[in-house]
Amino acid sequence: MIFYFTGTGNSLFAAKTLAHEGEEVISMIEAVRSKAFHYTLKDNEPLGFVFPVYFYTVSDPVLEFVSNLTVENAGFVYAVIPCGASIGAAGGFLKSELKKRGLELQRVDALVVPDGALIFYDIDSPEKMGKRLETATKELASIKQAIDRREGNSIKGSPVLGKMGLAAYHACMSTKAFHADEKCVGCGTCASICPSGAISMVDGRPAWTKSKCLKCCGCLGRCPVSAIQYGKKTASRGRYVNPVLK
Ligand SMILES: Cc1cc2nc3c(=O)[nH]c(=O)nc-3n(C[C@H](O)[C@H](O)[C@H](O)COP(=O)(O)O)c2cc1C
Repeated sequence: MIFYFTGTGNSLFAAKTLAHEGEEVISMIEAVRSKAFHYTLKDNEPLGFVFPVYFYTVSDPVLEFVSNLTVENAGFVYAVIPCGASIGAAGGFLKSELKKRGLELQRVDALVVPDGALIFYDIDSPEKMGKRLETATKELASIKQAIDRREGNSIKGSPVLGKMGLAAYHACMSTKAFHADEKCVGCGTCASICPSGAISMVDGRPAWTKSKCLKCCGCLGRCPVSAIQYGKKTASRGRYVNPVLK
């Protein structure tokens, strides 16, 4: 059983790649919305968590899900954490949160992926993004084999640093700078995919009706006409979404 959260698709891609035939891949956002917090594993079934690192830590939807989670018959527990460069304290922080739920995290892998966090910086060239995805795909194959062998590893990152990262993240969640430019066709994709439920369609155009969101960049990457902007910088930047979401 694999639980995932994704903004631009890398984590869903990773979760689907890691899953064996018939294995359940469950959205933590959907689970929180429907209050589905209780699960039972088959004998010897591994339990995986796949989600992007934000501010070198674990983000709110994952923490909210984990803090309510109960799992019966759990054995090997692992996490794969997609990142642009480094997962910082995310592994150790997740381990301490899972421990509170009686779950022993045994393996954490950072997975460097094509990074579409374009509210912060421009994305790489398509060639570089393609190479990153190719490398990540190979890396996932070897992680999957290690999981199949139930191979643990050393999990780094202090929960205190994880909480500090979270505080920094919380200070940067404002939706103020988001807007749709003249290219917007009013399709409503952004409103339907926003994991924060922060976007509503008002008079046929997106409006950010919540003051905070996860800043996952999914709306920027998944808008079919690249009409979503964040401040002035994103108009000249590229867009990225993992092919799994296309
Ligand atoms: C709000 C935000 C914060 C991020 N913080 C980090 C970070 O601290 N370290 C890092 O290496 N990558 C960071 N990234 C990059 C993401 O981890 C990377 O884009 C990831 O693949 C996104 O996964 P997804 O496609 O499943 O949403 C950040 C991205 C966003 C949107």
